[in-house]
Amino acid sequence: MIPLKHRNLLAMAFVMLTLSFQAGHARTTGQAGAIWGADYFPNIPLITHEGKEVRFFDDLIKDKVVVINFMFTRCPDVCPLETARLREVQKILGDRVGKDVFMYSISIDPEYDKPHVLKAYTERYQVGPGWLFLTGRQSDIITLRKKLGMYNPEERGGNLRAHSLSLLIGNQSTGRWMRSSPFENPYVMATQVGSWLHNWKLPPREGQDYASAPEVRTLSPGESLFRTRCSACHTIGGGDLLGPNKEKLGPDLYAITQKRELSWLIRFMKEPDKMFEEKDPLSMALLEAYDDVPMPNLSLSDRDIEQLIAYIEEESRRLGAPENPQGGPDSRGADDSTKKSQ
Ligand code: HEC
Repeated sequence: MIPLKHRNLLAMAFVMLTLSFQAGHARTTGQAGAIWGADYFPNIPLITHEGKEVRFFDDLIKDKVVVINFMFTRCPDVCPLETARLREVQKILGDRVGKDVFMYSISIDPEYDKPHVLKAYTERYQVGPGWLFLTGRQSDIITLRKKLGMYNPEERGGNLRAHSLSLLIGNQSTGRWMRSSPFENPYVMATQVGSWLHNWKLPPREGQDYASAPEVRTLSPGESLFRTRCSACHTIGGGDLLGPNKEKLGPDLYAITQKRELSWLIRFMKEPDKMFEEKDPLSMALLEAYDDVPMPNLSLSDRDIEQLIAYIEEESRRLGAPENPQGGPDSRGADDSTKKSQ
């Protein structure tokens, strides 16, 4: 297996990569050379938005390069953005989608998302051929998500909005899987998928062993949280992220701890929805500046917030944020929302 080099990853602006779940799996199976096959992936039955019955392993991923995400049509805020982003990726890949790349969006609200509901959704988002929306039994889908490392325990009790904003890109035949963000720059994502296609169907190398899979830098808890929960809409020092129609997704959080009162920041991360309700002036001004797209309440715990703030501070310092809050004008700050494109 060709190791995924950090070098390559760094070159790809903001790749989110967590190989830990598969590396962990390989260690437990201890089978050198084994590709994750039917014995790893649950072959659950699913139904497509066109009403066709399929099996997850046999029909959807076996010998294929795939992009898989989890969504639900009643999702009020982030899924529509996610879908729009993936639509961009689909456009860039063009007619390869459905031929040598397959895209799957699996509902985590399958009782509501019946095939006809998904079909209407694909029409709304002008989803082209080769990208299937799928539903099935709730328990099967949860099993699948757990196996793919894409289940957030905070969802228990029906808090679907806590679902993790990530997707998987994989090549089942070579056994390479990678977690990415649906808010990855669509060109970067298309390149990732495209480059994986490069050796798709090549037989796996002898001795391929996930126990010797590329070492993955251990992320601090704050960085992992940021990557999985925030990087959909925010960068630190990378400028404001823009959506497919150039709408602003969220402010750059570079040096944000120096720009805002700590207590305001903590509360805003914890319950932005309440602050909008209360018409907190700064929250309202931000809401207006960001095209009325509200920052979602991500059900963060106090500990999450502490770790996130620590990470944002550390990353800002790494990028040269001054220690002194009055450290002079800063050209990369969060208020600079117009210059950068991605
Ligand atoms: C779906 C997009 C989205 C996600 C995900 C998101 N945010 Fe936001 N965030 C926004 C938007 C948009 C704003 C600007 C205010 C508004 O319009 O609500 C914002 C504002 C903020 C602000 C205030 C910035 C300022 O200038 O004062 C902070 C801090 C913040 N977000 C932190 C986070 C953190 C930490 C996470 C992850 C745990 C996160 N956000 C996840 C969209 C998002």
